[in-house]
Amino acid sequence: MVSLRGRNAIVTGAAVGLGNAYARALAAQGVNLVLCDLREDVDDLATELARNGGRVVALRGDVGKPNDVRRIVDAAIAALGSIDLLINNAGTWAGSVADDDLDKSIADYEKLVGTNLKGVYLFGRALIPHMLEHGHGGDIVNISTDHVNTCGTPFHVCPGNDRCPWKDAPRPTSGGTIMDLYDAAKWGMHGLTFAWCKALAPKGIRVNAICMGATDSHMLRGFHGFDPSPDEVATWMRAEDSAQVVIDLLEEGPGGRNGEHINLCVGRRPRLEPELPHVYILEEDARVSARG
Ligand SMILES: NC(=O)c1ccc[n+]([C@@H]2O[C@H](COP(=O)([O-])OP(=O)(O)OC[C@H]3O[C@@H](n4cnc5c(N)ncnc54)[C@H](O)[C@@H]3O)[C@@H](O)[C@H]2O)c1
Repeated sequence: MVSLRGRNAIVTGAAVGLGNAYARALAAQGVNLVLCDLREDVDDLATELARNGGRVVALRGDVGKPNDVRRIVDAAIAALGSIDLLINNAGTWAGSVADDDLDKSIADYEKLVGTNLKGVYLFGRALIPHMLEHGHGGDIVNISTDHVNTCGTPFHVCPGNDRCPWKDAPRPTSGGTIMDLYDAAKWGMHGLTFAWCKALAPKGIRVNAICMGATDSHMLRGFHGFDPSPDEVATWMRAEDSAQVVIDLLEEGPGGRNGEHINLCVGRRPRLEPELPHVYILEEDARVSARG
């Protein structure tokens, strides 16, 4: 286990929801932060977290706009000296279906793929050259959905197997018919996760994804018209628990897992399960060099 104290991180989409919880958890570990969001209240979060003593900077911008991303990454490096952790969390949701009107669909595509996939791609492209140049290694964590990976936890390590609706293999990928573009963007993110994992492992940089099930957030409350029933809310995971999984993942350090899609699914306590054997990439491709 490695200490995160004094490390420098960018968290995208940090104003509310999961990103807010990730920022709080990282600050509590002594990580210096650049918080990026469209929302003005990201400034308030930075002010609050800076009171704990670490350096925390808020930078407003759109993760889907190249000039915003360039400006944010350059300002982040100028503010903190270097960046070694990137939490690609910013995301948005809207319904989209296979037979949508083309004009609606083009707007949905720009919004959903333009944020959920392009934002991850842009932050990676803008930051990875810097991470390679400073040579300290580091971590990239992409925040995905359980639609991609209903449950990747093998039966023999799953503590919640008795309660799991998918206990009889094969476990289907989730996602419904009403969010084809959201799901397409997240599947695309997994292409980046695998490719970056293989490309960056020799340089001491790990790239993992966390596949979230329903978790209490601004987005999920919005999905329920900001009036979810208490019974519904009781089934959701807590953002703080997901944040602890991110901390545990980062604390694994260079010797930890790489190229994994860590599944946090409703009905099972969110925690970092034992590392899974690789299915989609070769074990040797994911092996991280000790030195960045
Ligand atoms: N909450 C869930 O149940 C759930 C489930 C699966 C996946 N996720 C994923 O987790 C991530 C966080 O979701 P959340 O539920 O916390 O959402 P949220 O809406 O509560 O928070 C998202 C944050 O991202 C910011 N953001 C959105 N678009 C942006 C852009 N273009 N540029 C900069 N900032 C932007 C928002 O302003 C907001 O602060 C997303 O990638 C989402 O797809 C969430």
